[in-house]
Amino acid sequence: MTAFRFDDLRQHSDILRLRTGEPVTVRFIEPGDAEALQAYFRSLSTRSRYNRFLGAISELPATQLDQFIDVGQADRFSVVAVMSIDGADTIVGETRYAFDAETDSFEFGLSIDDRWQGHGIGSALLGNLECRAAAFGAHRLFGDTLRSNDAMIGLARKSGFAFTHSPGDWKLVRFEKHTVGAPQEIPCASWRLAAQQMAMQVSA
Ligand SMILES: CC(C)(COP(=O)(O)OP(=O)(O)OC[C@H]1O[C@@H](n2cnc3c(N)ncnc32)[C@H](O)[C@@H]1OP(=O)(O)O)[C@@H](O)C(=O)NCCC(=O)NCCS
Repeated sequence: MTAFRFDDLRQHSDILRLRTGEPVTVRFIEPGDAEALQAYFRSLSTRSRYNRFLGAISELPATQLDQFIDVGQADRFSVVAVMSIDGADTIVGETRYAFDAETDSFEFGLSIDDRWQGHGIGSALLGNLECRAAAFGAHRLFGDTLRSNDAMIGLARKSGFAFTHSPGDWKLVRFEKHTVGAPQEIPCASWRLAAQQMAMQVSA
């Protein structure tokens, strides 16, 4: 695994583009985001929340919110997608991923604000996640979703993921992708930082 410097999480921020060209900042969550993240989850439709958490919840339990904010704890990371809406930075999406060094695997889930679904944020975020996974040295990305979740299945298919059984739960389907080499199409700050670090190690 590539060693990360999490002392400056903002170094890992990226700017993605909607289909319209509007910018979306993708960055690690910060402690000051706790309230806004909770408000974001509360504002999701019941269906989106159900699909995201694979069950009925109205908001994140306090302990889970604390875990979401604690970037890097147990090799788990939360990232938010933020847009300027009416002059205010607003969370329009989030993703949470876990890196398993033993299997070089990168597991993730994500959600986009219902009002912003269908604008290409999900695809852009997924591309960014592939780049973040490469920065870890992960060779396999995967997630589980409900078999009824056409939007996630459509997004995963479009992004080149294959489908397989989800161990232990027939209601779920697993989408997964094996990656080789460096990300070409959608570079991200994490990848550039990891590449710099590798170059420094080689020349040392
Ligand atoms: C799944 C989700 C993340 C997709 O994000 P999004 O920003 O709306 O997706 P995009 O606009 O980038 O769409 C990309 C592609 O996904 C597919 N897609 C998106 N919505 C779809 C839908 N409702 N039905 C079928 N396919 C869909 C399409 O192939 C689409 O490409 P196209 O627009 O060229 O046809 C979003 O619907 C969401 O947050 N759902 C609730 C939470 C959730 O289900 N999370 C998954 C848990 S792992």
